[in-house]
Amino acid sequence: MTQKINVQKTQNPKPKPDEKNLGFGRYFTDHMFIMDYDPEKGWHDPRIVPYGPLTLEPSTMVFHYGQAIFEGLKAYKSADGRIFLFRPDMNMKRINLSNDRMSIPPIDDKFAVEATKALVSIDRDWIPSEPGTSLYIRPFIISTDPFLGVRPSYTYKFIIILSPSGAYYPSGINPVKIMVENEYVRAVRGGTGFAKTAANYAASLKAQEIAAEQGYVQVLWLDGIERKYIEEVGSMNVFFKIGDEIVTPSLDGSILPGITRDSSIQLLKKWGYKVIERKISVQELYDAHAKGKLAEAFGTGTAAVISPIGELNWDGKIITVNDGKIGEVSARLYDAITGIQDGTVKDEFGWITVVE
Ligand code: COI
Repeated sequence: MTQKINVQKTQNPKPKPDEKNLGFGRYFTDHMFIMDYDPEKGWHDPRIVPYGPLTLEPSTMVFHYGQAIFEGLKAYKSADGRIFLFRPDMNMKRINLSNDRMSIPPIDDKFAVEATKALVSIDRDWIPSEPGTSLYIRPFIISTDPFLGVRPSYTYKFIIILSPSGAYYPSGINPVKIMVENEYVRAVRGGTGFAKTAANYAASLKAQEIAAEQGYVQVLWLDGIERKYIEEVGSMNVFFKIGDEIVTPSLDGSILPGITRDSSIQLLKKWGYKVIERKISVQELYDAHAKGKLAEAFGTGTAAVISPIGELNWDGKIITVNDGKIGEVSARLYDAITGIQDGTVKDEFGWITVVE
């Protein structure tokens, strides 16, 4: 059942930031979407209102037990001024995957796409057009009961905010340095690794902080049991070109099922590459490098797009991949995906949704 979205426009539009210096996730547009849940009414009262603070009691459950999920997608402006979303249906379906794991009631995923389109349309003047920029869209759900017992909340808010953004990593498309994490783990089988829940990111901060002190931009997580097999980077899934095969860790429950990951696999297969989803140990990766077979490493993510990995540090053993340069496959994927997103490459897969 599609509900009517009430719209209350701001009386005080904000000045727009400098498109050449956006960074990631620092600026927010004039409006936000909100919808509430309670057991009697279900999801109700969808509305677009001026962007601003929420008023929540200090006892609100999300502050204590972290029952929260989120998504990330982007709106792009084409050269002729049309506005595109990239596979928004996938994000909204993934919300329900995350909701289910976190005991949050499901949303109407099709309506959530409509809500996103309505919000982006209202704040269309905020979509930047400088190369490498877009309007980052952050849907999220929080538990809102004022209660301190540990149980699923009865009430929730589903909110969408928008942030004109540039590259996620300050280095842009240039290769990033990644530390393989030996001590901490991100997720275990049976845990919440596949869900896009706030807790996964909170649990990753300590390792990221230690890696950053040593000059590494992110950590590469290993499996939580044997600490042998490669999982993901947290802000992105990972791919390796070994010989003439492209290998990416299989989705075994502890890895986020990335939409850019899925899109990359589909594109690579279409181009004739052999793509294999399987377990891959960090030792196997290092052995492949020693034999001269590790041709490329890269990450995929909505925020990160395609980010080549130029250096890995595993327990002090440092390897440089592809001389620290952008590889052929990473560059081709980056061009194809960003091209489909901004309308300069034909959308053969039907991945684009137009915002009117
Ligand atoms: C995204 O790629 O959209 C993400 O959510 C990753 C990160 C910014 C947390």
